[in-house]
Amino acid sequence: MDWPRGLEGLCYGGDYNPEQWPEEVWKEDVELMRRAGVNLVTVGVFSWARLEPSPGVHDFGWLDRALGLLHEGGIRVGLATPTASPPPWFGLAHPDALNVAADGTRLTHGSRDTYCVSAPAYRDASVRIATALAERYREHPALAMWHVHNEYGTRCHCDHAAAAFRTWLEARHGTLEALNDAWTTSFWGQHYSAWEQVMPPRATQYLPNPSQTLDFRRFLSDAMLACFREQKAVLRELSPDVPVTTNFVFGDWVPVDQRRWAREVDLVAIDHYPAADPPAETAFGADLARHWAGGEPWLLMEQAAVTYTGPRMAAKRPGEITRLSLSHIARGSRGAMFFQWRASRGGAELWHSGMVPHAGPDSRIFREVCELGALLPALEEATRAPVEAEAAVLWDTEAGWALQSPGLPSTELSYPEAVRQAHRVLYRHGVTADFAHPSDDLSAYGFVLVPSLYLISDADAENLRRYVEGGGTLVVSFLSGVADEHARVRTGGYPGALRDLLGIRVEEFHPLPPDAAIPLSVPGGGPLRAGIRPVARNGTGPLPGERAPHDTGTFWSEHLHLEGAEALARYAVPDAPGPRAPRTDAPGTGAALAGRPAITRHRHGGGTALYLSTRLTDGAYARLLGLEPVPVERVRRGGWLFTINHGDEEQEGTGGLRLSPGGYAVQKVQPAV
Ligand code: GAL
Repeated sequence: MDWPRGLEGLCYGGDYNPEQWPEEVWKEDVELMRRAGVNLVTVGVFSWARLEPSPGVHDFGWLDRALGLLHEGGIRVGLATPTASPPPWFGLAHPDALNVAADGTRLTHGSRDTYCVSAPAYRDASVRIATALAERYREHPALAMWHVHNEYGTRCHCDHAAAAFRTWLEARHGTLEALNDAWTTSFWGQHYSAWEQVMPPRATQYLPNPSQTLDFRRFLSDAMLACFREQKAVLRELSPDVPVTTNFVFGDWVPVDQRRWAREVDLVAIDHYPAADPPAETAFGADLARHWAGGEPWLLMEQAAVTYTGPRMAAKRPGEITRLSLSHIARGSRGAMFFQWRASRGGAELWHSGMVPHAGPDSRIFREVCELGALLPALEEATRAPVEAEAAVLWDTEAGWALQSPGLPSTELSYPEAVRQAHRVLYRHGVTADFAHPSDDLSAYGFVLVPSLYLISDADAENLRRYVEGGGTLVVSFLSGVADEHARVRTGGYPGALRDLLGIRVEEFHPLPPDAAIPLSVPGGGPLRAGIRPVARNGTGPLPGERAPHDTGTFWSEHLHLEGAEALARYAVPDAPGPRAPRTDAPGTGAALAGRPAITRHRHGGGTALYLSTRLTDGAYARLLGLEPVPVERVRRGGWLFTINHGDEEQEGTGGLRLSPGGYAVQKVQPAV
């Protein structure tokens, strides 16, 4: 990890777009930034049309003046290459470089991100503007970092993309025969007899080939990475000491494998816009960023001062700007940045919030922005030690992409949602978790959750087996391990590659209708427990001997055989048909699965492998793991403890501390042993 030059402590600031405002406003901007404690701004993200108003003609005057003012104000700059928004003249001069949707529609300029990353004209023009910027500003005293592009994530199905896809496929599969085999083109007569016949997944009559769509996502990620590398090479050559980054965006539409990309940036940076449940969602995003950064510090490059919840804008609650920023920082971000500094008065995102809102500095938002800026320097010391995590949740971008294919047993399964649930259960019960990839060394973790890891390679399955043999506890949920890296089913019984490790064999899947729930019964009648952690004394349900709560499985069920594992819970007959009971006339649901294993445990080597063949509620999941609710967010780093009370009630902190509603504390405590 490299840090922006000239900044020692935490970064504070946001995207600054002076070109949106008359120059009279810039002076006030710098004054307000100083008042707010801003030390870093990202400049020029979408400025290509202003920097190169016509092909090869540059206008750097306005940027010289803006950077000069920022420098005089002591504010450092992450200077962006503007390649996420080519000027209107570019598309008119190179119509073949505008992206084409799957249905063949060629897009037109008028928004942003309208280009094909495989089009030579786009690639050349991007390198030229990045070179021109680097030549002019490489020695600028305000320059702290290069920020390449913005949120890589476009896709294109044009002929340039098709040609590049074929080259990529040839490198991956070697021969056309290998590709035919990997994609199972024997189905529906898709056999390719020449490379020219292979296409991106363009609009077609019925279901596309899932292996083709998966490879296309992998290709897009690599194609965009090639663009990033080209720009990085130029910037590195002209300014060897200036770190280079780009900002990762969340969303399952994004065809970027951030974990692989993270090795190529000098600093991992993310943009994060939580909608529902901002505290849990913030912990989720921040923990993923830390995973991508390999446990090193990273940077929250963008967040909003006011969020969108569902279809409408929702003001952050008083103090929430600070609490959510603090949560990011506790979990590894070396600062808190926003999109954008000053809310725009026009353009597509005129209603997106700013650190300086439309109301101006005399506003609650700007006062809270100033409070956060004043707080950050005091947090510096507490952020030096690594975040301590007890458990891990597996995350594999490719497995998530594979789960987006149409034609799966249920189209309602969302990989991010499955992972979110596993992470949320730990978060709400005071367990700090790392994310990990199935190929990572997991031996440091007490237990590892594996939500719906549809696709897994043999090598990664072997890695999970080693973890359990070495004494680890693995908790695998349904639809894991069933496909190989080409998204082909592993035959012989599910969960394919993980069958022996789990000591089970699943014969059939029975996804449940919405709102259906099958009661689970625990043999012997006790509460649902896997014995992973000591039995909690408070709040996790009945203690031994007491009547078990009526836990249910929803969304999914399976016809499962024990092959070495024991049943911790079995499917029971629904008490009475009702709105929550599944249709008992549907084959395999309800009564037909009655008495069959639902949750299993297998002792393997020195460890344990659990299997969940249905979806548990968060509470039941926590009970199974032996966790008790913790009403505050807690993160430990070396001798420091971050505690954040996101709730409306006073809570008890550590060491007799009382945390008022919305309160937080960063305390020196005894290091954990
Ligand atoms: C980000 C993007 C910004 C801005 C922001 C608010 O994803 O990088 O440029 O669009 O969202 O929507």
